[in-house]
Amino acid sequence: MSHPKLLISAPFFTPDELARVEAVAPSVLAGTPEERAALPEDLRAGITAMANKGHKPIDGAQMDLFPNLEVIAQFGVGYDAIDVAAATERGIRVTNTPDVLNEDVADLALAMMLGWCREIIKGDAWVRDGTWDTGESMPLNRKMSGAPVGIAGMGRIGRAIADRCAGFGMEVHYTSRSEKETPEGWVYHGEDVVAMADAVEWLVVAVVGGEHTKGYVSKEAIKALGPRGVVINIARGTCIDEEALIEALETGEIAGAGLDVFNNEPHVDPRLIALPNVLLQPHQASATVETRRDMSLLQCANLSAYFAGEALLTPVN
Ligand code: 8YV
Repeated sequence: MSHPKLLISAPFFTPDELARVEAVAPSVLAGTPEERAALPEDLRAGITAMANKGHKPIDGAQMDLFPNLEVIAQFGVGYDAIDVAAATERGIRVTNTPDVLNEDVADLALAMMLGWCREIIKGDAWVRDGTWDTGESMPLNRKMSGAPVGIAGMGRIGRAIADRCAGFGMEVHYTSRSEKETPEGWVYHGEDVVAMADAVEWLVVAVVGGEHTKGYVSKEAIKALGPRGVVINIARGTCIDEEALIEALETGEIAGAGLDVFNNEPHVDPRLIALPNVLLQPHQASATVETRRDMSLLQCANLSAYFAGEALLTPVN
Protein backbone atom coordinates (compact mmCIF):
# COMPACT_ATOMS: atom_id res chain seq x y z
CA MET A 1 0.00 0.00 0.00
CA SER A 2 1.29 3.47 -0.83
CA HIS A 3 2.16 5.81 1.97
CA PRO A 4 -0.87 8.03 2.84
CA LYS A 5 -0.62 11.63 1.66
CA LEU A 6 -4.14 12.67 2.56
CA LEU A 7 -5.53 12.85 6.08
CA ILE A 8 -9.29 12.48 6.49
CA SER A 9 -9.76 14.46 9.69
CA ALA A 10 -13.43 13.96 10.50
CA PRO A 11 -15.66 10.95 11.16
CA PHE A 12 -18.70 12.65 9.61
CA PHE A 13 -18.26 11.73 5.93
CA THR A 14 -20.96 9.52 4.41
CA PRO A 15 -19.74 6.33 2.67
CA ASP A 16 -20.14 8.02 -0.76
CA GLU A 17 -18.24 11.12 0.32
CA LEU A 18 -15.54 9.00 1.90
CA ALA A 19 -15.13 6.90 -1.24
CA ARG A 20 -14.76 10.09 -3.31
CA VAL A 21 -12.08 11.51 -0.99
CA GLU A 22 -10.24 8.17 -0.83
CA ALA A 23 -10.12 8.08 -4.65
CA VAL A 24 -8.15 11.36 -4.75
CA ALA A 25 -4.96 10.08 -3.08
CA PRO A 26 -3.76 7.38 -0.67
CA SER A 27 -5.39 8.37 2.58
CA VAL A 28 -5.73 7.66 6.26
CA LEU A 29 -8.77 8.35 8.43
CA ALA A 30 -8.08 9.86 11.86
CA GLY A 31 -11.27 11.61 12.87
CA THR A 32 -10.33 12.95 16.30
CA PRO A 33 -7.35 14.89 17.73
CA GLU A 34 -6.47 11.81 19.80
CA GLU A 35 -6.45 9.52 16.75
CA ARG A 36 -4.30 12.01 14.85
CA ALA A 37 -1.78 12.33 17.71
CA ALA A 38 -1.57 8.52 17.85
CA LEU A 39 -0.51 8.22 14.19
CA PRO A 40 3.16 7.22 13.78
CA GLU A 41 5.51 10.16 13.22
CA ASP A 42 6.67 9.00 9.77
CA LEU A 43 3.05 8.63 8.62
CA ARG A 44 2.25 12.14 9.87
CA ALA A 45 5.30 13.47 8.00
CA GLY A 46 3.96 11.99 4.75
CA ILE A 47 0.64 13.88 4.98
CA THR A 48 0.42 16.96 2.73
CA ALA A 49 -3.35 17.43 2.48
CA MET A 50 -6.31 17.26 4.84
CA ALA A 51 -9.97 16.64 4.00
CA ASN A 52 -12.13 18.04 6.78
CA LYS A 53 -15.87 18.14 7.46
CA GLY A 54 -17.97 19.50 10.28
CA HIS A 55 -17.38 21.97 13.02
CA LYS A 56 -14.71 20.52 15.34
CA PRO A 57 -11.80 22.95 15.64
CA ILE A 58 -8.64 22.50 13.58
CA ASP A 59 -6.13 24.80 15.28
CA GLY A 60 -2.40 25.46 14.85
CA ALA A 61 -1.45 22.62 17.20
CA GLN A 62 -3.48 20.18 15.07
CA MET A 63 -1.72 21.45 11.96
CA ASP A 64 1.71 21.09 13.62
CA LEU A 65 1.17 17.34 13.97
CA PHE A 66 1.65 17.26 10.18
CA PRO A 67 4.86 19.20 9.42
CA ASN A 68 4.46 18.88 5.63
CA LEU A 69 0.77 19.83 5.48
CA GLU A 70 0.06 22.19 2.55
CA VAL A 71 -3.70 22.24 2.09
CA ILE A 72 -6.87 21.83 4.18
CA ALA A 73 -10.01 21.25 2.11
CA GLN A 74 -13.16 21.92 4.09
CA PHE A 75 -16.50 20.31 3.23
CA GLY A 76 -18.77 23.33 3.75
CA VAL A 77 -18.91 26.99 2.89
CA GLY A 78 -18.17 27.97 6.50
CA TYR A 79 -14.59 27.54 7.65
CA ASP A 80 -14.92 29.04 11.13
CA ALA A 81 -13.78 25.72 12.64
CA ILE A 82 -10.39 26.12 10.96
CA ASP A 83 -7.90 28.62 12.32
CA VAL A 84 -7.20 30.20 8.93
CA ALA A 85 -4.70 32.71 10.40
CA ALA A 86 -2.71 29.81 11.87
CA ALA A 87 -2.88 28.02 8.51
CA THR A 88 -1.68 31.10 6.62
CA GLU A 89 1.21 31.56 9.08
CA ARG A 90 2.30 28.01 8.28
CA GLY A 91 1.90 28.43 4.52
CA ILE A 92 -1.09 26.08 4.49
CA ARG A 93 -3.85 26.83 1.97
CA VAL A 94 -7.50 26.41 2.99
CA THR A 95 -10.38 25.72 0.58
CA ASN A 96 -14.16 25.58 1.14
CA THR A 97 -17.26 24.71 -0.89
CA PRO A 98 -19.11 27.97 -1.63
CA ASP A 99 -22.04 28.62 -3.97
CA VAL A 100 -23.19 25.06 -4.58
CA LEU A 101 -25.29 25.21 -1.39
CA ASN A 102 -26.78 28.71 -1.73
CA GLU A 103 -30.14 27.58 -3.07
CA ASP A 104 -30.71 24.84 -0.52
CA VAL A 105 -29.74 27.02 2.43
CA ALA A 106 -32.05 29.78 1.18
CA ASP A 107 -34.83 27.25 0.64
CA LEU A 108 -34.58 26.07 4.24
CA ALA A 109 -34.64 29.65 5.53
CA LEU A 110 -37.91 30.24 3.67
CA ALA A 111 -39.24 26.83 4.72
CA MET A 112 -38.65 27.76 8.37
CA MET A 113 -40.30 31.15 7.87
CA LEU A 114 -43.39 29.65 6.28
CA GLY A 115 -43.35 26.66 8.62
CA TRP A 116 -43.24 28.97 11.63
CA CYS A 117 -45.94 31.47 10.65
CA ARG A 118 -48.32 29.03 8.95
CA GLU A 119 -47.80 26.52 11.80
CA ILE A 120 -47.18 23.64 9.40
CA ILE A 121 -46.12 21.22 12.16
CA LYS A 122 -49.21 22.00 14.26
CA GLY A 123 -51.43 21.70 11.17
CA ASP A 124 -50.04 18.27 10.39
CA ALA A 125 -50.75 17.13 13.96
CA TRP A 126 -54.24 18.67 13.76
CA VAL A 127 -55.08 16.30 10.91
CA ARG A 128 -53.25 13.22 12.19
CA ASP A 129 -54.53 13.28 15.76
CA GLY A 130 -58.12 13.52 14.60
CA THR A 131 -58.79 17.04 15.91
CA TRP A 132 -59.83 18.24 12.46
CA ASP A 133 -62.05 15.19 12.07
CA THR A 134 -64.02 16.33 15.15
CA GLY A 135 -64.93 19.47 13.20
CA GLU A 136 -62.62 21.77 15.11
CA SER A 137 -60.84 24.38 12.95
CA MET A 138 -57.23 25.26 13.59
CA PRO A 139 -56.81 28.79 15.05
CA LEU A 140 -55.85 31.41 12.47
CA ASN A 141 -52.15 31.94 11.99
CA ARG A 142 -49.97 34.69 10.55
CA LYS A 143 -49.36 36.01 7.02
CA MET A 144 -45.80 36.14 5.74
CA SER A 145 -46.23 37.58 2.23
CA GLY A 146 -45.70 41.32 2.10
CA ALA A 147 -44.12 41.63 5.57
CA PRO A 148 -40.84 43.50 6.09
CA VAL A 149 -37.77 41.23 6.34
CA GLY A 150 -34.20 42.06 7.29
CA ILE A 151 -31.34 39.94 6.00
CA ALA A 152 -28.25 40.21 8.19
CA GLY A 153 -25.39 39.56 5.76
CA MET A 154 -25.95 40.06 2.03
CA GLY A 155 -23.41 37.55 0.77
CA ARG A 156 -24.35 34.93 -1.78
CA ILE A 157 -26.62 33.02 0.60
CA GLY A 158 -28.16 36.25 1.94
CA ARG A 159 -28.91 37.30 -1.61
CA ALA A 160 -30.56 33.96 -2.43
CA ILE A 161 -32.77 34.40 0.66
CA ALA A 162 -33.58 38.01 -0.23
CA ASP A 163 -34.56 37.04 -3.79
CA ARG A 164 -36.97 34.45 -2.43
CA CYS A 165 -38.42 36.95 0.08
CA ALA A 166 -38.89 39.46 -2.75
CA GLY A 167 -40.78 36.72 -4.58
CA PHE A 168 -43.19 36.72 -1.64
CA GLY A 169 -43.65 40.45 -2.02
CA MET A 170 -41.73 41.14 1.18
CA GLU A 171 -40.09 44.51 1.82
CA VAL A 172 -36.37 43.65 1.84
CA HIS A 173 -33.88 45.29 4.21
CA TYR A 174 -30.28 44.20 4.65
CA THR A 175 -27.02 44.79 6.49
CA SER A 176 -23.66 44.23 4.88
CA ARG A 177 -20.12 45.60 4.98
CA SER A 178 -20.77 47.33 1.65
CA GLU A 179 -23.87 48.38 -0.23
CA LYS A 180 -24.84 45.88 -2.95
CA GLU A 181 -26.43 46.24 -6.34
CA THR A 182 -30.00 45.22 -5.65
CA PRO A 183 -33.44 45.61 -7.16
CA GLU A 184 -34.94 49.02 -6.48
CA GLY A 185 -36.41 49.58 -3.07
CA TRP A 186 -34.23 47.25 -1.00
CA VAL A 187 -33.10 49.17 2.09
CA TYR A 188 -29.42 49.14 3.11
CA HIS A 189 -28.64 49.67 6.80
CA GLY A 190 -24.84 49.59 6.68
CA GLU A 191 -23.76 47.18 9.42
CA ASP A 192 -26.37 48.50 11.86
CA VAL A 193 -28.37 45.40 12.68
CA VAL A 194 -30.22 47.24 15.49
CA ALA A 195 -31.55 49.90 13.11
CA MET A 196 -32.56 47.18 10.65
CA ALA A 197 -34.28 45.11 13.34
CA ASP A 198 -36.25 48.18 14.33
CA ALA A 199 -37.62 48.42 10.76
CA VAL A 200 -38.61 44.76 10.18
CA GLU A 201 -40.64 41.84 11.58
CA TRP A 202 -38.46 39.02 10.26
CA LEU A 203 -34.71 38.93 10.90
CA VAL A 204 -32.82 36.31 8.90
CA VAL A 205 -29.22 35.70 9.92
CA ALA A 206 -26.90 34.93 7.00
CA VAL A 207 -23.57 36.40 8.11
CA VAL A 208 -20.35 34.38 7.94
CA GLY A 209 -19.47 32.62 11.21
CA GLY A 210 -16.29 33.27 13.19
CA GLU A 211 -14.88 35.53 15.89
CA HIS A 212 -15.75 38.79 14.12
CA THR A 213 -19.49 37.98 13.95
CA LYS A 214 -19.81 36.54 17.46
CA GLY A 215 -23.03 37.91 18.98
CA TYR A 216 -23.68 40.02 15.83
CA VAL A 217 -27.41 39.76 16.49
CA SER A 218 -27.11 41.38 19.90
CA LYS A 219 -29.50 41.78 22.83
CA GLU A 220 -30.26 45.29 21.50
CA ALA A 221 -31.06 43.99 18.01
CA ILE A 222 -33.39 41.33 19.44
CA LYS A 223 -35.10 43.97 21.60
CA ALA A 224 -35.46 46.29 18.59
CA LEU A 225 -37.23 43.56 16.64
CA GLY A 226 -40.21 43.85 18.98
CA PRO A 227 -43.18 41.64 19.86
CA ARG A 228 -43.95 40.62 16.24
CA GLY A 229 -40.30 39.82 15.59
CA VAL A 230 -39.16 36.41 14.40
CA VAL A 231 -35.48 35.43 14.19
CA ILE A 232 -34.39 32.89 11.56
CA ASN A 233 -30.84 31.52 11.75
CA ILE A 234 -29.18 29.43 9.03
CA ALA A 235 -25.68 30.84 9.67
CA ARG A 236 -23.98 29.83 12.92
CA GLY A 237 -25.22 29.71 16.50
CA THR A 238 -22.40 32.07 17.46
CA CYS A 239 -23.83 34.87 15.28
CA ILE A 240 -26.63 35.47 17.79
CA ASP A 241 -26.47 36.26 21.49
CA GLU A 242 -28.23 32.97 22.30
CA GLU A 243 -28.84 33.87 25.97
CA ALA A 244 -30.58 37.10 24.96
CA LEU A 245 -32.56 35.25 22.30
CA ILE A 246 -33.80 32.63 24.77
CA GLU A 247 -34.77 35.31 27.27
CA ALA A 248 -36.68 37.29 24.62
CA LEU A 249 -38.47 34.14 23.45
CA GLU A 250 -39.38 33.13 27.01
CA THR A 251 -40.75 36.54 27.94
CA GLY A 252 -42.56 37.21 24.65
CA GLU A 253 -40.31 40.20 23.93
CA ILE A 254 -40.21 38.71 20.40
CA ALA A 255 -42.72 36.34 18.78
CA GLY A 256 -40.55 33.41 17.84
CA ALA A 257 -37.62 31.87 16.02
CA GLY A 258 -36.70 29.30 13.40
CA LEU A 259 -33.26 27.88 14.14
CA ASP A 260 -31.12 25.48 12.10
CA VAL A 261 -27.89 26.28 13.99
CA PHE A 262 -27.03 26.61 17.67
CA ASN A 263 -24.25 27.15 20.13
CA ASN A 264 -22.78 23.83 21.27
CA GLU A 265 -24.39 21.71 18.48
CA PRO A 266 -25.76 19.08 18.51
CA HIS A 267 -26.54 19.70 22.20
CA VAL A 268 -29.37 22.23 21.90
CA ASP A 269 -30.12 24.30 25.00
CA PRO A 270 -33.07 22.55 26.74
CA ARG A 271 -34.75 25.94 27.24
CA LEU A 272 -35.06 26.25 23.44
CA ILE A 273 -36.44 22.72 23.16
CA ALA A 274 -39.09 23.58 25.77
CA LEU A 275 -40.33 26.67 23.89
CA PRO A 276 -43.44 26.26 21.72
CA ASN A 277 -42.71 29.43 19.69
CA VAL A 278 -39.47 28.03 18.22
CA LEU A 279 -39.12 25.85 15.12
CA LEU A 280 -36.00 23.68 15.43
CA GLN A 281 -33.95 22.00 12.69
CA PRO A 282 -30.81 19.82 13.04
CA HIS A 283 -28.33 21.97 11.03
CA GLN A 284 -29.65 20.55 7.80
CA ALA A 285 -29.83 23.58 5.48
CA SER A 286 -27.37 22.14 2.93
CA ALA A 287 -28.40 18.55 3.54
CA THR A 288 -30.02 17.43 0.30
CA VAL A 289 -28.65 14.51 -1.71
CA GLU A 290 -27.97 16.82 -4.66
CA THR A 291 -26.17 19.59 -2.78
CA ARG A 292 -24.14 17.34 -0.50
CA ARG A 293 -22.93 15.51 -3.62
CA ASP A 294 -21.93 18.86 -5.19
CA MET A 295 -20.16 19.94 -1.99
CA SER A 296 -18.28 16.64 -1.94
CA LEU A 297 -17.33 16.97 -5.62
CA LEU A 298 -16.02 20.50 -5.03
CA GLN A 299 -14.02 19.46 -1.99
CA CYS A 300 -12.45 16.64 -4.03
CA ALA A 301 -11.87 18.90 -7.04
CA ASN A 302 -9.86 21.20 -4.77
CA LEU A 303 -7.84 18.26 -3.45
CA SER A 304 -7.27 16.87 -6.96
CA ALA A 305 -6.14 20.30 -8.18
CA TYR A 306 -3.67 20.47 -5.30
CA PHE A 307 -2.22 17.01 -6.02
CA ALA A 308 -1.99 17.86 -9.75
CA GLY A 309 -0.12 21.08 -8.95
CA GLU A 310 -2.97 23.14 -10.41
CA ALA A 311 -4.67 26.26 -9.05
CA LEU A 312 -7.13 25.62 -6.23
CA LEU A 313 -10.74 26.16 -7.31
CA THR A 314 -12.16 27.87 -4.22
CA PRO A 315 -9.33 29.05 -1.97
CA VAL A 316 -10.03 30.89 1.28
CA ASN A 317 -6.49 32.22 1.98
C1 8YV B 1 -21.89 21.93 6.83
C2 8YV B 1 -22.36 24.24 6.84
O1 8YV B 1 -20.90 21.95 5.90
O2 8YV B 1 -21.48 24.68 4.71
C3 8YV B 1 -21.48 24.97 5.89
O3 8YV B 1 -20.79 25.89 6.36
O4 8YV B 1 -22.59 24.65 7.91
C4 8YV B 1 -22.93 22.94 6.47
O5 8YV B 1 -23.33 22.88 5.16
C5 8YV B 1 -22.41 20.57 6.99
O6 8YV B 1 -23.02 20.55 8.22
C6 8YV B 1 -21.35 19.53 6.93
O7 8YV B 1 -20.46 19.70 7.98
